[in-house]
Amino acid sequence: MPRLFFALQPGPSQRQAMHEATLPLVRETGGRPVHPEDLHLTLCFLGEVPGQQVATLIAAGDRVRPLAARIAFDRMDFWRRSRVLCLLPRRDEAAGAVEDLAAGLRNAATGAGFTPDARPFIAHVTIARKVSPAKAGNHAWPLALTAPLDFASGGFALLSSTGGGDEPRYKVVHAWDGPPPLPSPARGS
Ligand code: 2AM
Repeated sequence: MPRLFFALQPGPSQRQAMHEATLPLVRETGGRPVHPEDLHLTLCFLGEVPGQQVATLIAAGDRVRPLAARIAFDRMDFWRRSRVLCLLPRRDEAAGAVEDLAAGLRNAATGAGFTPDARPFIAHVTIARKVSPAKAGNHAWPLALTAPLDFASGGFALLSSTGGGDEPRYKVVHAWDGPPPLPSPARGS
């Protein structure tokens, strides 16, 4: 049975930029990089959902308004317990809007009879898994990035985790398009 979760996905060039900017640190800490195509921000993790309930879950997603956001990820953190390296967003209005979206999806899923993961929501993008705590111990976490990484999102998606091994690959089950993402301040538009 596939494991399902709602997530934000950055565009292909942003995924690639996240991957490339973080690769030196991933290599240094002995982590296994998440495939660039798989980079995402988990909004609400449902776990295993029987096939016949997926339509109900999609109907729950229909009740939640998609977000147009441009999130700046400005720090890299090491989470010792899960041994992952992840990107953290700048604490601003966009990050607040993502928290609201995650809460909205959680409420919609719970209202439809699902049981989302109970852990408190922390916006992050996992960059690498199976990091060596000894190697990561050479840094004081979180590390500020020299330049923030841009993550634009005009909607959200229901993804399924098809892997079970070391390299999970994610597939879009359903996508909710929102308004186009806000323009990048870097381009001055
Ligand atoms: P992550 O967001 O920290 O990378 C699919 O497994 C995705 O859902 C992963 O991105 C994973 O972690 C996230 N996730 C959130 N809660 C989870 C849980 N209880 N079990 C597995 N994955 C979970």
